Amino acid sequence: MPELFSPFKLKHVELRNRIAVPPMCQYSAEDGVANDWHTVHYGALARGGAGLVIVEATAVAPEGRITPRCLGIWNDEQAEQLKKVADQIKAAGSVAGIQIAHAGRKASANTPWEGDDHIPESAPNAWQPIGPSGIAFGKDLPRVPQEMSIADIQKTQQDFVKAAERARDAGYEWLELHFAHGYLAQSFFSKHSNQRTDEYGGSFENRSRFLLETLQAVKAVWPENLPLTVRFGVIEYDGQDEETVAESIQLIQQFKQHGVDLVSVSVGFTIPETNIPWGDGFLADVSERVRRETGLPVASAWGFAKAEVAASVVKNEQLDVVMIGRAMLASPHYPYTLAQQLNVDKPSWVLPAPYAHWLERYSI
Ligand SMILES: Cc1cc2nc3c(=O)[nH]c(=O)nc-3n(C[C@H](O)[C@H](O)[C@H](O)COP(=O)(O)O)c2cc1C
Repeated sequence: MPELFSPFKLKHVELRNRIAVPPMCQYSAEDGVANDWHTVHYGALARGGAGLVIVEATAVAPEGRITPRCLGIWNDEQAEQLKKVADQIKAAGSVAGIQIAHAGRKASANTPWEGDDHIPESAPNAWQPIGPSGIAFGKDLPRVPQEMSIADIQKTQQDFVKAAERARDAGYEWLELHFAHGYLAQSFFSKHSNQRTDEYGGSFENRSRFLLETLQAVKAVWPENLPLTVRFGVIEYDGQDEETVAESIQLIQQFKQHGVDLVSVSVGFTIPETNIPWGDGFLADVSERVRRETGLPVASAWGFAKAEVAASVVKNEQLDVVMIGRAMLASPHYPYTLAQQLNVDKPSWVLPAPYAHWLERYSI
């Protein structure tokens, strides 16, 4: 029976436990370049004991950033700094992952603490978002994206390829393609945001095309022995979930055929009006279904932080890897807390020796 604190092997990579830090934007970069904030932040998360730390949504092109403060990986300076981040994570015994992303029509927004809304079109730091069709997300993100031409599509796919090469060369060992959360790839798949009449819109096959082509192109440059993963919004909670989940599973089966090693199950977030049943581990059941029907290992996030929830979804084989986000921001050493709460023998083993030595000797 798998346990939260048992190792997990995928390709040639072994996570020391099933706890992963999901990508979480820090909105702290200048010109997409990581700095001390990122090296310290990611180093601390890794030292806290998680098996895998996935660096936040890192844009494959300038216009693919959510905000002007997002990380990027479209030039060598960015890759060089991201290498330092990967080195920190690996030195602490975690696997270094990175999520490469394009924000699509949700791009050109203010940071969450400056409004989380679209930057006014006339502001000097705004840019023109792009998307499959000229349909805005709505609410706080009202800008109408420019419909992508075939040349735009091909250029963006090449941006993903170049980003994957840079991530590989910077030492990342786990690649996550951001195909979730209403950003560019997810918006190609969703009928809410894609009303194209060419080969990239309409039928299931056509709406899948951007994602599958991008995946195939990335696969060609990503090392065979390292995990290639996708974060995908399999469900929208928009009242049409039966059809969406069935289509999502069909697409994930194709991801598998094209060499994806694990899928991180998430929410679509392609429209603002949804009815998401927020609560502990609310994606556990749909994750289990994806796992069962596709035969792929799955990870998931959103409300899995409580010890009994995290432990049970692994034990019951609903998830292979549990993503824990906000609890890790509150305390990077949260895996130690989890180990204590789950009565793991020697919970301090998740910590580096300079901490573990004292915590084993003196209880706190
Ligand atoms: C500050 C913050 C930034 C986030 N940025 C990203 C991101 O870059 N990419 C992504 O796929 N999800 C992002 N998310 C979602 C998280 O990966 C995760 O799904 C979410 O925090 C739910 O997990 P939790 O309940 O353990 O916090 C972010 C969440 C937070 C709190």
